[in-house]
Amino acid sequence: MHIIAIDGPAGSGKSSVSKAAARALGFGYLDTGAAYRALAWAQLNRNLQVGAMSASQIAEVFDYKISLDPSNYWVQFANVDITDAIREPEVAQTVSSIAVLPQVRAFMLQYTRDLVTQSGLTGIVVEGRDITTVIFPEAETRILLTASEEVRIRRRQAELPADVSIADQVTKRDNTDSQVVDFMKPAIGVIAIDSSNLSFDETVTAVLEAVKGK
Ligand code: DC
Repeated sequence: MHIIAIDGPAGSGKSSVSKAAARALGFGYLDTGAAYRALAWAQLNRNLQVGAMSASQIAEVFDYKISLDPSNYWVQFANVDITDAIREPEVAQTVSSIAVLPQVRAFMLQYTRDLVTQSGLTGIVVEGRDITTVIFPEAETRILLTASEEVRIRRRQAELPADVSIADQVTKRDNTDSQVVDFMKPAIGVIAIDSSNLSFDETVTAVLEAVKGK
């Protein structure tokens, strides 16, 4: 199985670039952040006390499904569609505190590897924060997609209503998240692509070039 691992901070353009690269390659696409968001959503809406649970207890109640089709993205929890709900500011504010928990990371490591290896796909683009370093350090291609803080805040803001300010959220979340895994600097063997001065298409091309270069 051909695995392309892409890490990067919030607003680096990771999700849309990864989807477009997966489409161009005829590969599947996995957004690993969605599972952390779903867990945060379940804590908020299904009364799950994630902090008090072990990795195996999380595995028991994590009734989660995600599409691996880059052209048809959806996420479900207990058969409820939560594709839009996990993008709500409430979830974004809770997710970092859940993502730092060691039992959550242990669960996600196993869950993500199983999901990918049992998918039956010949190739997949997997994006997140610790994919190049922890989840699939042996992936065929490993990329860190970065962008300047200013550009990342601007991109995230463009996704939201004009009256919601994102600057604090993006910076705060990246700071919390990067205490767990360092996704701001490329690990050895990881190709860094800085998209600050690249258009969307140029960034996708840079990713595809990195894949071909292997
Ligand atoms: O990529 P995203 O914004 O949807 O990620 C949501 C949260 O999940 C983010 O706060 C960091 C965390 N995350 C992580 O710790 N490891 C991953 N592989 C993916 C996401």
